[in-house]
Amino acid sequence: MKIAVVGTGYVGLVSGTCFAEMGNDVWCVDKDEEKIAGLQNGVIPIFEPGLKELVQKNSDRLRFVTDISEALQEANICFIAVGTPPGEDGSADLSAVLAVASSIGKAMVRHMFVVDKSTVPVGTSRKVRQAIQHELNLRGSNLTFDVISNPEFLKEGTAVHDCLLPDRIIVGTDTDKAARLMSDLYKPFLRSTGRLLQMDIASAEMTKYAANCMLATKISFINEIANICELVGADVNKVRMGIGSDPRIGYSFIFPGCGYGGSCFPKDVQALIRTSGGLGYDARILQAVEAVNESQKLALPRRIVARYGESLTGLHFTCWGLSFKPDTDDMRCAASLVIIDELTKRGAKVHAYDPQAEKVARTIYFRDNESIEYFDGKYDALKGCDALILITEWKEFRSPDFERIKECLREPVIFDGRNQYEAESLQEMGFEYHQIGVGD
Ligand code: UGA
Repeated sequence: MKIAVVGTGYVGLVSGTCFAEMGNDVWCVDKDEEKIAGLQNGVIPIFEPGLKELVQKNSDRLRFVTDISEALQEANICFIAVGTPPGEDGSADLSAVLAVASSIGKAMVRHMFVVDKSTVPVGTSRKVRQAIQHELNLRGSNLTFDVISNPEFLKEGTAVHDCLLPDRIIVGTDTDKAARLMSDLYKPFLRSTGRLLQMDIASAEMTKYAANCMLATKISFINEIANICELVGADVNKVRMGIGSDPRIGYSFIFPGCGYGGSCFPKDVQALIRTSGGLGYDARILQAVEAVNESQKLALPRRIVARYGESLTGLHFTCWGLSFKPDTDDMRCAASLVIIDELTKRGAKVHAYDPQAEKVARTIYFRDNESIEYFDGKYDALKGCDALILITEWKEFRSPDFERIKECLREPVIFDGRNQYEAESLQEMGFEYHQIGVGD
């Protein structure tokens, strides 16, 4: 098949590359000239394991262009995979999606299957349809097109794997022709796992929000339980295992921590709150999910203030992990932003180490924060500090050399925002160990 994918962010670039891997000809389109020039020279704009190799491997079938007309000269399927960031009121900003729809209407030269992969509120397909039709009318063209909803469920850090071996593909269509096309396109992806679920467009659009909101709810729920555990003297790690053993609950996605971050959960929870509010429904569970999450990002600073007092002047803290989760350099809505801000606001100095996100932190998120020093190694970052704060659970932090940590720190104190270590053995080694959901 000949496919155009507009938007070369996580979703667009990974999906486009995976379509090429399955033998399709793919045009990846982005208006960012620098990004496209980089991609043409093999520079991948994001850190995502396995992506660079897969782009290289499929270079014969992948083209990177800035002009959508060039792509639509050949392609008859066009995926929209541009961002839908939260607008000022938290609702999804559709301007990029609709701008792409208009450019499709201007550039298409044959029947098009327009597939929306961006996360968009229910009803967006109608707006996409209108935007395309408007341009066709201006051109006096009677070309036809189908609009399809095909939300993406990949996770940053495992995006290539998730895309090549999806546990399900959701497709929302309103014609048999579109349904058949999507089924043919995805057949090679579904050989060993998963299934393709066909439904109407509104249900497909809603499925994406419901999935992310359910996952965010699981996280806020366990974080709330963790906070209660601290108060009643229970250990959330044991409670997590205790409840996870019930198959109706399950073990996955109930790890307590410093709150969820990233570009998806915070934005999608907010957007669904706004959508339902706009329709007169007060989404109380989702509002609570969001409120618990915001508060959870302050869980570690609260423990630190309880230990050292309101002013942290004169103290140095090592922060391991800046990205919102391991295996990515993405820091959007990361807990580290809130934690480090809170510490430095109170006068502390921070020594930061992250395997991938340092550049993003230094140049974008903490550009103006002079209280942070960056280190190339996790142990170097510890020297002369009063405590270690673990924020992101990169694998290299899982079983560090604790004796070395003790030697480097001024005092053997660890605040663990991801409950990575064995409390008993750390205490035996002489550490003061604070975790989420376990009282001091
Ligand atoms: C999420 C969904 O998991 C994907 O299915 C979805 O496709 C994607 O959003 C999207 O909408 O595009 P992602 O944002 O990459 O993927 O990250 P997750 O792995 O889901 O983690 C999100 C956050 O939840 C992280 O900050 C993580 O630390 C936190 N988390 C996750 C917990 O605090 N506890 C857990 O048990 C699991």
